[in-house]
Amino acid sequence: MSDDESTDINESDEPAAVGVKLGSTRTVLDIPDGRGGRERHSILTCLATYEDAITGEEKVLFGEEAAVEYPDTVRFMLRSGLPEDEESVADAERFFEAVVDAHDVPEESAVVYAVPTIDNEEGVENLTSVIEGSSIGQIEARSFPESLCGSIPAYGDGLDAIDEVFLSVNMGSTTLEACAYRRGEQLSPFSTGSVTGNEVDRWIVAAVEEESQGRVHIDRTTAREYKEEHADVGDFEPFTDVVQQPGGGSHEFTVDRGVRDPVDRYIDDAVDAVANEFLPGLANDHMKPYQLALGRPIAVTGGMACIPGLTEEFEARLSDALDRDIEVVSPDDPATAAAEGAARIAERLI
Ligand SMILES: Nc1ncnc2c1ncn2[C@@H]1O[C@H](COP(=O)(O)OP(=O)(O)OP(=O)(O)O)[C@@H](O)[C@H]1O
Ligand SMILES: [Mg+2]
Repeated sequence: MSDDESTDINESDEPAAVGVKLGSTRTVLDIPDGRGGRERHSILTCLATYEDAITGEEKVLFGEEAAVEYPDTVRFMLRSGLPEDEESVADAERFFEAVVDAHDVPEESAVVYAVPTIDNEEGVENLTSVIEGSSIGQIEARSFPESLCGSIPAYGDGLDAIDEVFLSVNMGSTTLEACAYRRGEQLSPFSTGSVTGNEVDRWIVAAVEEESQGRVHIDRTTAREYKEEHADVGDFEPFTDVVQQPGGGSHEFTVDRGVRDPVDRYIDDAVDAVANEFLPGLANDHMKPYQLALGRPIAVTGGMACIPGLTEEFEARLSDALDRDIEVVSPDDPATAAAEGAARIAERLI
């Protein structure tokens, strides 16, 4: 008997545990790899449609391929964080179905999905309907807060975060979320749309234009790529890129402060939001848990926490702002941690 056959038998014995995060920039799936382990996939949350050259049928393309091949018509349907209107709900449904289909996610599965902490009931309901209306999750489908899911791998290999009192900060594309958790319960959830990865991308567009004395105007996708590839808080290396001039020829330019300054400002803004907006509210409403949680490591998650050195700098500046030693813990991969934590909850449910 081959290995393949034996894993097939194992798989049919037990429903699959699936972790999902449908994010505005990327969607992450944490699924069984069919060999007794697990694998994680990160996919750009976008789709494009085209006509099949032979049958004329409308076909769906998603992720990187859609973004690169159809830059003019590609739709990032969760740009604002959640599916807002009928059209983006329909796009999100097609996108999600195409993604689970392409990755052979079993229908017989327990699905746990991460939801942002945001004051947008309709948007959250739409997200729920996209996932619970999909073909997967026939055993069970449940949602948990994204920042709780992301904190689970920050606190070790198990589900320790679920039974703890701790603070969590989630640094995403469209929001910065902060929340205290008391054994899974949210205390004083806070969310701001003004300290975000998308905002940093906009600042990079402006800063690169300034650094090049108006000669270089990049789009926001390029700005995001600069940030994801080059941003580094302790160890930034200036880099060069080339733009084609409209009249022919090309222009080479160097980016230094164009990426450094926006990231620096982001850290200051994040510290300001946590120290001066979130924490005072928490202290006011829940004094004892606040004191307890501040003495423990703060879980910092979300894609922006992937920037090398960012969490260390956040830790140092937050300690300064609060005039006490703050410790930060981060998962190995902050951008996919929410799906990983969700999958661990799903395993427990099974
Ligand atoms: N390796 C990386 N380096 C730098 N930035 C990154 C990296 N990976 C992701 N990011 C940035 O993190 C942000 C996405 O984070 P995350 O996936 O947590 O957001 P999201 O959950 O989709 O957004 P939100 O919840 O705010 O709607 C984007 O701004 C993205 O550019
Ligand atoms: Mg998020």
